[in-house]
Amino acid sequence: MENARGVLVNKLIIREDRPDGKINDTLLAKGQSPANFLILKTGNFCNTKRRKIMATKVEKVLLLGEKTFLIDKKQKKFHTEFGMFDLEKIKKYGQVIKTNTGKKFYAVEPTIIDLMKKSRRMPQIVTQKDAAQIAAVTGLTTGWKCLDFGGGSGFLAMFIGNLVKPGGTVITYEKKPEYAKNIVKNINFCGLQKIVAVKNTDAKKFTEKNLDLITMDVIDAEKYVKKCFNALKPGGWICVYSPHIEQQKKAVKEMEKYFTHIRTIETIQRNWQVSEYTHPIPSQLVHTGFMTFGRKVIK
Ligand SMILES: C[S@@+](CC[C@H](N)C(=O)[O-])C[C@H]1O[C@@H](n2cnc3c(N)ncnc32)[C@H](O)[C@@H]1O
Repeated sequence: MENARGVLVNKLIIREDRPDGKINDTLLAKGQSPANFLILKTGNFCNTKRRKIMATKVEKVLLLGEKTFLIDKKQKKFHTEFGMFDLEKIKKYGQVIKTNTGKKFYAVEPTIIDLMKKSRRMPQIVTQKDAAQIAAVTGLTTGWKCLDFGGGSGFLAMFIGNLVKPGGTVITYEKKPEYAKNIVKNINFCGLQKIVAVKNTDAKKFTEKNLDLITMDVIDAEKYVKKCFNALKPGGWICVYSPHIEQQKKAVKEMEKYFTHIRTIETIQRNWQVSEYTHPIPSQLVHTGFMTFGRKVIK
């Protein structure tokens, strides 16, 4: 089936506003004509005779088994070392799907974390355990306007972008063109193009104002602290990430001039092997980075 832009879509849903205020979604069967209905681009709605019609894309599915595969469902068939998957057998997320050699996998809907795992890394990223602390400390939520310095591979910007939707935005500044291009690809791959934007220029030129959160993962974050203070809303947060404590000390010294409730943390996470003899998994990545948080108040 095709939508109005001629894009192939796997599912068409007729959405009807019922007089009792409830919404009734009817999934059109494959090949069934949407007849008099106006089909809009994915995710958009229109009113025709009290009906709203939407075309949804079921693009990606995650196959969980001995290995994990993120695949485009439009492929129909998918060949692996475990045999061939007939993707047309996937009717709903969560179901079992077996290869033609009988290997069992589960088909689940990919989350942003699954998508990010398959995104391309260029410079070193802020890991999930550290990114999660930003949300835990600040209360990061929908609608927040955020700025990110040093886009790198775009991972931190995308993690934040996923939490601020709907209504929120993340602008990430990346000065290297090849990194900026890769971030754009990662944003598109993760479906965050309406939330996260990249500016391929030096972050010192930023002009955004009234921000809820500014994150910095650049070598000389202390140079931008004053400008960040001016660009934040009262109550807004700054977070400086760096792998070395020397960088944090410089940032803290500068932050103390402007911000309140300054706090530096390191997050250590260990994975354990739980069995008859239970122990932490040896040789894990323990140190990744430090983060210093500060909050803007009007003194
Ligand atoms: C460690 S990476 C950031 C990784 C990123 N936080 C992530 O999770 O993918 C640091 C990036 O900052 C960029 N950078 C450094 N100084 C910058 C500046 N003044 N303006 C814009 N980008 C800058 C570098 O080119 C590099 O890509």
